[in-house]
Parts: sequence; structure tokens; C-alpha cells
Amino acid sequence: MPSIDRDRLRLLMQSEQQKFIAERPKSKALFERARKSLLGGVPMNWMAKWAGAFPPFVREARGAEFFDVDGHRYIDLCLGDTGAMTGHSPAATVSAVQQQLARGITLMLPSEDSVWVGEELQKRFGLPFWQFALTATDANRFSIRLARQITGRPKILVFNWCYHGTVDETFITLENGALKPRRGNIGPPVDPSVTTKAVEFNDIPALEKALQPGDVACVLAEPAMTNVGIVLPDPGYHQQLRDLTRKHGTFLIIDETHTICAGPGGYTRAENLDPDFLVFGKPIGGGVPGAAYGFTHAVAEAIAARQNLEDCDVGGIGGTLAGNALSLAAMRATLEKVLTQKAFDHSIPLAERWTAGVGQAITEFDIPWNVTRLGCRAEYLFASRAPHNGHEAHNAMDFELERFMHLFAMNRGILLTPFHNMALMSPATLPEHIDHHTKVFRQALQALVG
Ligand SMILES: Cc1ncc(COP(=O)(O)O)c(C=O)c1O
Repeated sequence: MPSIDRDRLRLLMQSEQQKFIAERPKSKALFERARKSLLGGVPMNWMAKWAGAFPPFVREARGAEFFDVDGHRYIDLCLGDTGAMTGHSPAATVSAVQQQLARGITLMLPSEDSVWVGEELQKRFGLPFWQFALTATDANRFSIRLARQITGRPKILVFNWCYHGTVDETFITLENGALKPRRGNIGPPVDPSVTTKAVEFNDIPALEKALQPGDVACVLAEPAMTNVGIVLPDPGYHQQLRDLTRKHGTFLIIDETHTICAGPGGYTRAENLDPDFLVFGKPIGGGVPGAAYGFTHAVAEAIAARQNLEDCDVGGIGGTLAGNALSLAAMRATLEKVLTQKAFDHSIPLAERWTAGVGQAITEFDIPWNVTRLGCRAEYLFASRAPHNGHEAHNAMDFELERFMHLFAMNRGILLTPFHNMALMSPATLPEHIDHHTKVFRQALQALVG
């Protein structure tokens, strides 16, 4: 099996960087201007992570493609890290948003759309009661607060190398059995080991040990991990997770924000899960900010029993613009007309095609990588076996190699997510987009080890 020659990788990276800069004079000029008013030259910190010397500045996006200000066309397999899993500006969402824009954007009063969306979410996920937020981060934070309030327990439990948004409690990792603030954790309010337990995904004995003392209010889990590469659950894992959380009086919050890629009802519906809370953000409004969290009858009753009307606006669950009319109009149109079964019937086979193309190239070049898929999401990882938990997945990461693969793809008109090697297919993605990626992926392997 060929290994990666680091000198060769560095030389390749240099020439890709030169190509990137030379071909993007307008993005470069905008970046230089941006550095004078925006920290690091970008409007938000993640945008500094793109593999080029600066990010390509976008002129416009449509469907599964976008154009930068220099006129380059890109096939978008990042899709706003799932925020645009619907394809960019889906017609039905745009039309509903345009109409709502002229009828009022935010009022702090409900619209009929909110009822329609609540009813639709009931049907999709099987949970009876729903609330709205503007981000999946907030939906997770609010679910955690409710779980803490109802159980009276101080801690939450997450899986090693999870990501659930900027939720303070989740920035924890497990190193040789010890809990530590996650690398890069900016100004933690308290040491996360005070608030949080972390165990490896797929490790039932560790989960049972952590729940046993009875101090864990909730487990916050992606049903399959998607933020450190894809880590699939072992057969039977979810049943055991559910049984153990019930046994120890711990709520189970399933975060479907990324695993909605498994189908219209996410992984929960596809695999018949039975959570106490469910969170769904990012693409729910076709890219218009919005998120939802749902819960069971029992949770709803427990919330009602503790309701404090006088202080409910300052109790830690809020967001002035949450549940606004525009956000709900976007969610209604997206759920009704965009993120449909038909859309998944189109995008999931494309992810299978992407996975097959990447897998064949990995075999032919005999390189120790692997590729995994979940619904319309797929990802390759720099290890010969699919990871079984967050630790294994994180160990397979290789920042230098990852940046080369991303920049090589970008220089040939393909955008992967800036974090790990993820590709997402949308209702607007085409077979020729996938085949172009396969061709470029092979060229990258040829350059690296051919
Ligand atoms: C599984 C999961 N949950 C929640 C979030 C947070 O989403 P947002 O940044 O939109 O709040 C993310 C973001 O990547 C995520 O991957």
C-alpha cells in the first residue's frame, strides 16, 4: 500500500495554492479589502478555514452550483454544511419567502404556518409537541435546559468528538479516560467536566457506567455521528441506548440536524427510534434561519407543570426572532415542497454513485482510505477501516492531506465542506456532478501516489 510522501504533498500543495491565487484576482482583492474591516478578512470565523489562501467570494448560487466573483463555476457538495441541503434557493421556498416578506417578517405572534409546520413535524418524526428556534444550537440548548429542569439533574452526556453547535456543555473530549475541554475551546464558562460526561459512541458498558450514578439529565446524540467523519451505530446500539436511558431516568435527545440526510423523517423515522426530544435545524427552512425541537406528551406535561408565566420570557429559553413569520413560511414551503420523499429518492442514489466512484478509486490506487455513506451524505476518511467511534475517526484525520484534497477539488470546480471530507447531495445535484467529482478525486490520487 503506498503511503503519502510528505515532501511531495507539500510541493503539490504549493502549486495548487499558486493556481488558486492566480485564477482568483477578484476574490483576492475583496479579501484584502475585507481584512480592513472584518476580523481575519471573513464575516465569521469558520470561513477562515477554507483551504485556499483566501475564500472564494460568491457571486451567486443556484441549485447545486455556485459562481464566484471571478466567474468560476463550482459544483457545491458542501451545501452550506447542510444548511442548503435543499439545493440553493429552492423555488418553492423562495416564492413563499417573497410573499411573506411583503406581509410582515417578525411579530412575536403566531401565524397559521406555525400550526402547519407543527402538524407536519408530528407526522414526520412521531413526536406530538414542537417549539421553534433560529439555530440548531439553540434548539439543542433549550432541550438540554428542559431536560435539566424536569429531572433536577446537573449533568448531560455526549459522545467523544461530537458536534452539536456552539453548546458550551458539549466542548469536551475524552483522552485516555480523562475528560478535558475540547482542543480550541474558546473561553469556556466553566470546565466542561463540571457539566458533562463523555463516552465513546458504540460503547455500551461505558454508557451504562456513566448513567448509573443517576446524575445525568439527558444524553444528547446524533443517531450516527457526522461531524468527525461518519460513524455508524452498531446493530442494536440504539435499542440499548434507549433501554439504558430509560432505566436510569435520563432523557434522550436525538439531534437530526445532519442525519436528516437519511430521509424525510431523518434517521429516527428510518430506523424507528423513540427519543424524548428531537432537534432539527439547518435545512428545515431551505437555508432561511430556523430550527425546531419536539418532545413527547410526558415531557410536555412535565414542562406545563413547571411553567412560570411571569418569568417565561427570561427563563433561558428565548430568541426574540425565534418562530418568526418569515422563518415559518420558509419551513412550511421547504417541508411541503422541497425536502420530500421524492427529493431523497433522487439524492440518495447520487450519494451511492459518489461512494462507489470514490471506493473504486481507493481500491485501484490501493490507498489506505475508506468511504462511508448515510442517506444522501457520504465521506472519505484517511484510514483503511470505517471508524467505530469518535476517537478512531478523529485519529484518522490529517489536516495537511485534507487541505490538499479540498484545494485540489476547489481548483477543479468542486466544493467539499471545509471540515473533514464530506459531500452532500441535494435534489438539484446531477449525475454529471458526481462523475466530475470521481474524475477529480482520481486525479488527486494520481498526483499523490501515482
Ligand atoms: C449535528 C449538529 N447539530 C447542531 C448543529 C448546530 O447548527 P447551527 O450552527 O446551525 O446552530 C450542527 C452544526 O454543524 C450539527 O452538525
